[in-house]
Order: sequence, then structure tokens, then C-alpha cells
Amino acid sequence: MGEKSILFWLILELSLLSFLGSRCVLAQNPIFACDVASNPALGSLGFCNTSLSVALRAEDLVKRLTLQEKVGFLVNKAAAVSRLGIPSYEWWSEALHGVSYVGPGTKFSPLVPGATSFPQVILTAASFNASLFKAIGKVVSNEARAMHNVGLAGLTFWSPNVNIFRDPRWGRGQETPGEDPLLASTYAAGYVRGLQDADDPEKLKVAACCKHYTAYDLDNWKGFQRFTFNAVVTKQDMDDTFQPPFKSCVIDGNVASVMCSYNQVNGVPSCADSGLLSGTIRGDWNLNGYIVSDCDSVDVLYNSQHYTKTPEDAAAITISAGLDLDCGNFLGQHTLPAIQGGKLNESAVDKAITNNFVVLMRLGFFDGDPRKLPYGGLGPKDVCTKENQELAREAARQGIVLLKNNHNALPLHPTSIKSMAVIGPNANVTKTMIGNYEGTPCNYVTPLQGLSAIVNTVYQPGCTNIACAGNSLQLDPAKQAAAQADATVLVVGADQSIEREGLDRVSLLLPGQQTTLITEVAKAAKGPVILVIMSGGPFDISFAKSSDYISSILWVGYPGEAGGAALADIIFGSYSPSGRLPVTWYPQSFADNVSMADMHMRPNPSTGFPGRTYRFYTGETVYTFGDGLSYTEHTHHLVRAPKQVSIPLEAGHTCYSETCKSVDLAGGHCENLAFDIHLRVKNSGSMPGSHTVFLFSSPPSVHNAPRKHLLGFEKVFLGPKGESNVVFKVDVCKDLSLVDELGNRKVALGSHILHVGDLKHSLTLRI
Ligand SMILES: *[C@@H]1O[C@H](CO)[C@@H](O)[C@H](O)[C@H]1NC(C)=O
Ligand SMILES: *[C@@H]1O[C@H](CO)[C@@H](O)[C@H](O)[C@H]1NC(C)=O
Ligand SMILES: *[C@@H]1O[C@H](CO)[C@@H](O)[C@H](O)[C@H]1NC(C)=O
Ligand SMILES: *[C@@H]1O[C@H](CO)[C@@H](O)[C@H](O)[C@H]1NC(C)=O
Ligand SMILES: *[C@@H]1O[C@H](CO)[C@@H](O)[C@H](O)[C@H]1NC(C)=O
Repeated sequence: MGEKSILFWLILELSLLSFLGSRCVLAQNPIFACDVASNPALGSLGFCNTSLSVALRAEDLVKRLTLQEKVGFLVNKAAAVSRLGIPSYEWWSEALHGVSYVGPGTKFSPLVPGATSFPQVILTAASFNASLFKAIGKVVSNEARAMHNVGLAGLTFWSPNVNIFRDPRWGRGQETPGEDPLLASTYAAGYVRGLQDADDPEKLKVAACCKHYTAYDLDNWKGFQRFTFNAVVTKQDMDDTFQPPFKSCVIDGNVASVMCSYNQVNGVPSCADSGLLSGTIRGDWNLNGYIVSDCDSVDVLYNSQHYTKTPEDAAAITISAGLDLDCGNFLGQHTLPAIQGGKLNESAVDKAITNNFVVLMRLGFFDGDPRKLPYGGLGPKDVCTKENQELAREAARQGIVLLKNNHNALPLHPTSIKSMAVIGPNANVTKTMIGNYEGTPCNYVTPLQGLSAIVNTVYQPGCTNIACAGNSLQLDPAKQAAAQADATVLVVGADQSIEREGLDRVSLLLPGQQTTLITEVAKAAKGPVILVIMSGGPFDISFAKSSDYISSILWVGYPGEAGGAALADIIFGSYSPSGRLPVTWYPQSFADNVSMADMHMRPNPSTGFPGRTYRFYTGETVYTFGDGLSYTEHTHHLVRAPKQVSIPLEAGHTCYSETCKSVDLAGGHCENLAFDIHLRVKNSGSMPGSHTVFLFSSPPSVHNAPRKHLLGFEKVFLGPKGESNVVFKVDVCKDLSLVDELGNRKVALGSHILHVGDLKHSLTLRI
């Protein structure tokens, strides 16, 4: 083609595109089945009949399908059955901390160019505010429904990630609610309810999915790959660390889906483990929903793990184990041959697609045009509203953790700061602030922009990028800026090139020359130096903790689209920090000594393995779980708590005749055995703010019990000199029990030490 004709075609194409583009903006239709309004014949079909129960409707639909058609409903890109008025449905959408473009089921367009981008989950978890977890879920599902109504989003979202953040190096730790099972469980149930809950408890606003089931928390570390990793997990660690968030997600959150992980657990790929899927999730926990594979994980267990001889065996074993939906097309290709080969019965496929259909029916997908149904009024105007964006800023404020504040250097007073040096590779970042599983945000406020809105700033990146290699260091201009400014804010840390899906860290030290940058700039600075760590995972920043040149340290996670505004709110004291660390910050030697592939939670004195997380690790820390300062002081006072609790035992129980260290829960002898702990919390300072009260317990040291574990947390707002009562309900069997080496729940007899702040109270459990 000559140049002229290329130009001609280009112009034609561009005008055609803009024509199509503007048409898209004007009219985009949602995807739904049972469009009775345009095809009245569909009205007589049972599965389209909204007066029937979802179970009957799903049964009716399954009966009408050929085997070939059924197989089309086992994969994320579900096939259309036009003779029944069913369009193709894309199951894969994501909404980890805002509606995301990561799954093919959701996209942004000129009609909805962005959605509210909340902080990455690890920072929201640091708020320790259960109502915030739910409030965010609610806003995200509003925006998701609004986008669904204009054909831009699905109804099934594969979020949240509730794996325990077991090892500080994990690249996906940022996506999770941290290392503690209670916090992760509370987050899971809260966020899922925010996403899913509809007025009618049978219905779903959108369907959430807790992932990745289970013991998945290694991506790619020193040759260990998630696709082939076999997590060797003890029964005890399984039951008191890895399973609780999933259990809470299914039972307390009533989630509509669970996703099985790539890895093997004790030699069995989790998507092929009928004990884990049919036994635990569907049997013990009674999942009302579908089980989906991680993307291509059935393919992975065949092609990468070589777990089965043939692809048909892989299809048969996963569906028989309880898998309902494949993210990928492996089951689309190999299920029919598996049935023809006698490896799988058609009834197993019926069961799987019934689970999938029931969820779509609860979502209203088979009820006709969603614009005429509940949530039908939601549209582009409901995405990125002022209130939603304000909640993103509020969430970041509530999560940001103040780790050091020498001589109360913070908050800064805007009137006394005439100039501020804002330095560092993360000081003016946009996309870094929203972490992974992100969407297009409504807009960004970078740290520099947030601070510049209040005082005059001078900006120096310090390094050209986050890796901060020697040749990218720009030390002199950074030092000069700090030497001349009334205050210096250094924003450093990580981004997705340092920690992400598919990339675990090997070091806990700050990347490249960041430590040099911080140290040199801090020495040169004229005013107070505020160090801001923007990261998902923790760092060994002992040098900064102990440095007299660094007044204050803040950890801001990946703070979301409004991160810079929230940071400024904290630095200038319009909000007192109230976030607490959701993970332990270990020293670098932890990474030198401990293999990431070692799944053990408990220490092993014979090998020198130090254990993991605040519940078991007894070594040195840089910062610990629950650390976090505020601009005021809080005191706790115990009002009322029992000193003794007796567990009634039936006559003849072995513990009558023998001295028992613990009582098995299986007997039912401690049902309804509960008590209250009444506390009084006071803000003794002059600044209003929120404060999280943590109730920890140290059980007697039997059965390798945790040295300490969280029983409850409650965030309260207190005005200057304000006081408040906080009551924790403690259920002896649920909260004070522990899992023994064989995975049985037991109540340890003897002294349980309850701690709240500096307060300690000994509670004796006896029979
Ligand atoms: C829908 O089901 C109800 C309850 O069985 C029945 O009475 C009604 O006739 C059905 N509607 C249609 C259009 O078949
Ligand atoms: C299929 O169903 C039959 C009859 O219930 C049963 O005997 C057989 O074991 C099943 N086959 C498989 C592969 O599950
Ligand atoms: C800071 O980042 C914003 C957003 O990317 C950009 O518009 C602005 O120019 C940057 N400011 C400086 C001083 O580089
Ligand atoms: C790592 O091992 C060294 C040498 O045994 C020890 O001194 C250090 O405390 C260990 N670090 C951790 C975090 O366990
Ligand atoms: C918890 O979060 C909610 C929702 O943002 C907020 O209204 C409430 O004030 C927060 N609670 C405390 C104690 O900060």
C-alpha cells in the first residue's frame, strides 16, 4: 500500500473508531439471561421463573442441557446456549480493594473511566476496624453493580485474598489482611458481607470468593515456585493458622465461593483434594456456593506437577474432589473424554454446574434485565462519588501506622513550616500507591501533592527509581533540599518491581542505596526528618529506628488513590494515627536463617528454627504485631473479669481420676461457657482520636500452644480526656481453646494470662 492510501485508511479507521467509541459511551447493555421482554417464549421455562426456588430453577436448567452444553459451564468463559436465551458469561472479575481490571470480566471505558481505589488490603487491615472492612466492601459492590448495569463488569468477583501472611518475604502479602488468624478471619467475614449482603438473605449483591485455599503463601523464592510447591503442613498449624480465615469466610461471611490454590498440601494438589474441598469446605463448613480453581491450576497439576497420568484423569479427579469451575479451559477440553472413558459420571458434572447456576440465580442473572431489578438504578454516576473517594482517604488515614515519634516531632504545625523537603523514590508516585489487583482509580493524590496542598515543598526523588542502584542515587540535591527546609519527609520503600505476585523478596533490607539516601539526607537535614515507608511487606529498618537523626517513622502500606492526602492529614495532625502493624517486622537475619519453604509456624529448638509470627516467634523483632503510636496517650483499666472459670465435666470423665493438662472439646461439656471482660479506656491526652484495644491471651504452655494470641480487638473513638467502656465476650471453648498436635480442639487447664496494653490479668481454668 502507498503512503497516501495508508493515511486514507488511517483517517477512515480513526473516525470509525471514534464513532464506535461514542456509541459505546451512549449505550452499553448488561449481560443477562431470561430476557423475557424481548423473547416471551422464555417465560415458560422453569429456570426463568422467579417464583420458583433457586434449587428448582437450577435443576430445571440442568435437565435441559446436553452433556456438551453442560461442559461449557465448567469454565470461566462459560459458553452461550442461545436456544435457551443464555448468553456467554465471564466469571472472572476481581475487586480486591476496588473494582479491578485484572479479570477479563471487567473493563473501564469512557463511560466509567475509573473506580474508587482503596488502600491495598494490608493497610486496611492495619486499621483494625471491622466496620471499615464492611463499609469498603459495600462501596465496592455498589460500584461493581453500577458497572454491571452498563455492561462493564461481571457479578462474580474473585476477592478477597485471605491467606495468612506467614513469611515477610511473600510478594503477595500486600493483598492479605496480615499474619493473625483472628484479624484475617474478621477481615474475611467483614469484607465479604460488605460485598455480598443483599436485603433478601437468599440473594447476592455480588458474589465474593475467598482465596487461595489453602496454605498458599509462597510465589517464587530461590527456585521454589508456587506451581510446583508442596506445602508440608502439620495438622496443628493447618487448624490453628491456615484454615481459620477460610472457615470464617464460609461460616461467618457466608461467602459464595472459595478458590483452591496452585500448590500441593502434603503431597496433594489442593484443587484435587476431596478431603479439603468436599470434606472441609462443603461438608464441615457447608459452603453455599461454588469452588473455583486458581487460573490454570488444573492444567498445572497435570502439566507441571505430573500429578495424574492423563489429562482426563486430572479432569476426573478435580471434579470428583469437589471442584465446580475451572479458571482456564482445561475442564472444557478434557471433561467430555473423561466421561466417555468412564473416569467420571455425568452426575458429577451436574452437581458442579448446579453449584455454579445457583450462585448466578442468587445474583439475579436469570431474572431478566438487571436495570429493572434491585440495584438497577445504579449507574456511572454512582462510581467515584465524592463520598466513595472520601472513604478511600479515610481508610488510608485509619490504617497508617506511626512507628516512632521522638520528642513528639509529629504532628507538624503548618504555620511553623515555611518550607518542606519531600524526598525519595516514592515521594511523588501514583500507581505504586494502589498496589496490585488494582483498577484505574478515579484520580490520584501523591504524597508530594498531598503535602504541597498545605505547605511549600521542594521535591527531590533522591534515586531515579525504587531499586535505587548506586548509579541512580542523586544524593547532593536531596541533601541540599533537606539542609534548607524546615522539615524533611522521605518517602521510600517498595513497589511491584520489588514485591508482587510471582516475586518474593530474598532480603528484608530496603532496596539498593535507599539506606544510604535516608542516612545521608537525615544527617544533612535542618529540621525534623519524617521517614515514610511505602510497602506491602515489612522491612528491617533498625538503623532508622535507632537513629537520632530520624525523628519519626510512618508505615503507609500502599495507601490507595488518596494516599498522599491521607499522609498529609496525619503529618499535619488533622488526624491522630491509629493504625497498628498487622505483621511482625523481623530483622534481616530472619531471612538469612529461615527457609521460606519451611511451612512450620512453631519454633524447633533442635534445628534452631525460630518460629513465625508474634504467636510463636520468640527472636528479636524490629517492630511487633500490634505496634503503633498515636498523638495522644491511652490508659486501660480493668473493671471486671473473672479470676476463675470452671468447666463442668460429666462423672466418669478421665480428668476426674487423673491430672489432666487439657480437656477435649468433643464432649460438649463447655457449651455456652462464656464470660465478659469489662474494660475502661481513657484518652489522657488533649487530641481526639481512635484507639484499638487488643485483648491477648497467653495460655498455659501445653501442646505447643502459641505464646500469645489475639482473642479480640475493638476500635473506639475518644475525644480529649474521653473515656469509654469496652466489653469483650469470651467464649471459653471458641476463644480460649487451642489445637493440639493431632488437630483436636482442647481447653488447656491452668492459668491463662489475659493482656490488654500493659494490663495483665490471670484467669484460671479448672474442672
Ligand atoms: C412459575 O411457577 C409458579 C409456581 O410453581 C407457577 O404457579 C407459575 O405458573 C409459573 N409461571 C410460569 C410462567 O410458568
Ligand atoms: C458412576 O456411577 C455408578 C453408579 O452409581 C458407580 O457405580 C460408579 O462407580 C461411578 N463411576 C465413577 C467414575 O464415579
Ligand atoms: C508529581 O506527579 C504528578 C502526577 O504524576 C505530576 O503531574 C507532577 O508533575 C509531579 N511533580 C513533580 C514535581 O515531578
Ligand atoms: C540467625 O542465626 C544467628 C546465628 O545463629 C543468630 O544469632 C540470630 O539471632 C538468628 N536470627 C533470627 C532472627 O533468628
Ligand atoms: C471505623 O470505620 C468506620 C467507617 O469508616 C468509621 O465510621 C468509624 O468511625 C471507625 N471507627 C473508629 C473507632 O475509628
